[in-house]
Amino acid sequence: MPEFLQSRFFDLYWHYFVAGLAVYIGARLTYFFFNSKDKKEEYKNFGNEADFKTPDQIAESKCVEDESEDEEIMPALPANLKHVPLVFEKLPVHETIERSEEFYKFMNMRRTVRRFSDESVPAEVIYNIIKTAGTAPSGAHTEPWTYVLVKSLEIKQQIRQIIEDEEEINYKKRMGKVWTTDLKALRTNWIKEYLTEAPYLILVFKQTYSFRDDGKKKLHYYNEQSVSLAAGMLLTAIHYAGLVSLTSTPLNCGPALRSLLGRPISEKLSLLLPVGYPAKDCVVPDLQRKPLEEILVEF
Ligand SMILES: Cc1cc2nc3c(=O)[nH]c(=O)nc-3n(C[C@H](O)[C@H](O)[C@H](O)COP(=O)(O)O)c2cc1C
Repeated sequence: MPEFLQSRFFDLYWHYFVAGLAVYIGARLTYFFFNSKDKKEEYKNFGNEADFKTPDQIAESKCVEDESEDEEIMPALPANLKHVPLVFEKLPVHETIERSEEFYKFMNMRRTVRRFSDESVPAEVIYNIIKTAGTAPSGAHTEPWTYVLVKSLEIKQQIRQIIEDEEEINYKKRMGKVWTTDLKALRTNWIKEYLTEAPYLILVFKQTYSFRDDGKKKLHYYNEQSVSLAAGMLLTAIHYAGLVSLTSTPLNCGPALRSLLGRPISEKLSLLLPVGYPAKDCVVPDLQRKPLEEILVEF
């Protein structure tokens, strides 16, 4: 037995050691319990079958299911789908170069804006922007996205309440020191005025699956990547229309926002974007973008 355990000191004060050990174990268990609860909550928001299995694995398990049912597998798109000539105009090389340069300069002016004016924007503009996002490529043309457009001030206020309540906990407890320190330069916190200032909120939901006309579950392969691509096109269309937005991913708010907006369980909130004009006194952080040499690897 170690000498310390046999000492007079330990003999006199052993109950303090036991009590200390019990407090330590209790604290570890409490931390473990709350941490795993938060993780589960996060998976509920962002996780889906496709996040944990490759599409091939999902397709494989589905095939086994289908085979055992000994049923004919109906394709999601008609097998005899017509193929039509591509509409494509080949540009002279100099024009291709000019266009690519101009477009880069234009896109380099896109900035995330955190202060909005309440000036209205015609709904038609927003419909065109969402239609543009709807032209994005998607895994097996599943188009796994739903755009919820909120113009009603009452619903915007409810959304703001849900987000600010969660964000206060996020900033104070969940995000941790490193994350909140990294955000200091951007001057963000849990107060989100833009959620009621901007004329529109667009909430992008990814559909993890849907149902076909025959009632069978339709798998949405690569729904994460498809929705991310569409979101990039949405941002580009907003910028091209002369409007501004803020890309946000409200942490832990997915289920509450989904139920507020009446979306089904198969849909997970991907992004929330306020869209409109910037406030008159709007400032943005003076950020630099990485040069080509830092983001390009060529062989
Ligand atoms: C996935 C994602 C989540 C983001 N979430 C937030 C957010 O919650 N709040 C915020 O103010 N900005 C958010 N941003 C915006 C980034 O901070 C911003 O894009 C970055 O600072 C670069 O600035 P820029 O968009 O002006 O180039 C997010 C951006 C992305 C891509």
